[in-house]
Amino acid sequence: MKKTVSLADYAGLIQTALPKGILLNTNGDKFNAMVIGWGNLGVTWGEPTFVAYVRENRYTKAQIDKTGEFTLSVPLNGPLSAVTKICGGASGRDIDKAAAVPLTLEAPEANHTPGVREYPLTLECEVLYAQRQEPERLPDSIRAAMYPQDVDGAYPRANRDPHTAYVARILRTYIIS
Ligand SMILES: Cc1cc2nc3c(=O)[nH]c(=O)nc-3n(C[C@H](O)[C@H](O)[C@H](O)COP(=O)(O)O)c2cc1C
Repeated sequence: MKKTVSLADYAGLIQTALPKGILLNTNGDKFNAMVIGWGNLGVTWGEPTFVAYVRENRYTKAQIDKTGEFTLSVPLNGPLSAVTKICGGASGRDIDKAAAVPLTLEAPEANHTPGVREYPLTLECEVLYAQRQEPERLPDSIRAAMYPQDVDGAYPRANRDPHTAYVARILRTYIIS
């Protein structure tokens, strides 16, 4: 069952959950869930939006570029270690993460990307705008820490790859029960 909730009522919870890791789900060639720790909840072009930052070689990036959408899944009581380890450390190119964790998928309402019951607060999103970032325009300290040029783009954590910022309209906000 899905209970529609006010995004504003959950903005604080999302802000607190993000740095510990929430899920960004995609459904291009298959369902895949990636842990994200960066993002912005706000208003853009008069629409409620979430901005996600995805590095170039993540499987997730190919999936978003194919479908133009994603669904966010946020834990209500902190992250689960199996989710962080598998969805934040392995690639959908190599494994079926939903089977590996395992995750229970919940059919979406307004886009085509499921949420997951284990992280019940769900935001269905559609991408309005994508912009590849230019690390050379960042302060030196941030560039050095976040874009180490000696680390290959296949590495699951910080590496040489720039992020693409995806500004997405939030279509639905609900809690799966
Ligand atoms: C706590 C945490 C936060 C993360 N935040 C991001 C992020 O905001 N953007 C990103 O591109 N990768 C982030 N990652 C790394 C991806 O989750 C990781 O590389 C993942 O294996 C990529 O999966 P994929 O290849 O299936 O897309 C984070 C990982 C962790 C553990």
